[in-house]
Amino acid sequence: MAEIKVAQIDMPPGLIDLGSGQPGPALLPLALMEKAAAHRLSQGDPSLLAYGYEQGDGYFRIALAKFLSEQYGLPVDARQLFVTAGASLGLHLICALFSRPGDIIFVEDPTYFLALRIFADHGLKVIRLPMDENGLIIEALEEKLAAHKPVFIYTIPSFHNPASVILSAERREKLVRLSRGHDFLIVADEVYHLLSYGAAVPSPLGGFAGDGTVLSLGSFSKILAPGLRLGWVQAAPALLERFVKSGLLDSGGGLNPFTSALVRSAIELGLQHEHLEHLKKTYAHRMLALGAALRQHLPVSVRFDQPEGGFFIWLRFARGVDIKKILALARQNDVAFQPGENFSGGRGVNHCARLGISYFETPQLEEGAKRLGRAVEKYLEAI
Ligand SMILES: Cc1ncc(COP(=O)(O)O)c(C=O)c1O
Repeated sequence: MAEIKVAQIDMPPGLIDLGSGQPGPALLPLALMEKAAAHRLSQGDPSLLAYGYEQGDGYFRIALAKFLSEQYGLPVDARQLFVTAGASLGLHLICALFSRPGDIIFVEDPTYFLALRIFADHGLKVIRLPMDENGLIIEALEEKLAAHKPVFIYTIPSFHNPASVILSAERREKLVRLSRGHDFLIVADEVYHLLSYGAAVPSPLGGFAGDGTVLSLGSFSKILAPGLRLGWVQAAPALLERFVKSGLLDSGGGLNPFTSALVRSAIELGLQHEHLEHLKKTYAHRMLALGAALRQHLPVSVRFDQPEGGFFIWLRFARGVDIKKILALARQNDVAFQPGENFSGGRGVNHCARLGISYFETPQLEEGAKRLGRAVEKYLEAI
């Protein structure tokens, strides 16, 4: 009988695929969810099994607002939160409710490649804007705004996927000002914002939600578990109305009421906070170890910054290096990564590669760096 599949990921034994961007089995919190579920299911309240309130379980939103207020160091109002089944669904709904096929949107170059798949599902025309070490270049945005009218800009302001950069506070403010002046929305994908383990991160763009142009996407995928399919949009109530009044919500009710109720317990019992601290400690350790191993095993011509948050190291090889060839050699060595062109439609960052620390534990990350070093050496010998 063919193997019965359960999870999206299919990591062949022996392969260290550093291209993965999801938590590995050791970080999936089974015991935590067992406690949270036992707590919630013993309350004798069956409402979590009814069709959910359209905006999302009110008690869950209050718990989430309190958690986010503490984490962000900014007041977050439960009325500004709409519960989603993950950031991907949030993004899909934004496209469905705020755009029409053929509309123009702006994205960063490079950007999260699977967001590009969602934009393609909605027939959106994507215009790419350059970034530097402080994130999106605002002057480039201003130039493009003179020629195009986007419905929204999609940005990953904190611990960018894949470039790992942080949009500066000044640029965040300028971006919000431009969105008001030019009447476009900011879709801020802030799924890594809470994963700072050292870096000073400016306030999330969600903090500007009151201004009425920002839709901030958050997710439990990166701070608890992706299988929960639970996330949120933080935005002004007038924008959230569009979600709440949509046909999808009218027919199916609020998204994920059962999971929301369990995660409410995880937050109220302090388990989410504890888990996030554990993740930050674990990822900080892994990131340092991978950085050190890469410095040991890769030639100095391969440059990268040592991130203090998020999941990714963005390697920059010399321009002209054929990353696809290196990837083929790496695979022969049982190691892999995400080549830069996946994030950029084949332009600009072809000499780059994304490595992630979320799936593998430190010894495997170190072994992966060693194997990658051998593949790069082989490539350089052959050219
Ligand atoms: C930038 C970014 N946005 C969204 C997602 C997906 O989030 P979710 O699991 O909440 O749909 C990911 C996951 O890799 C991501 O890196």
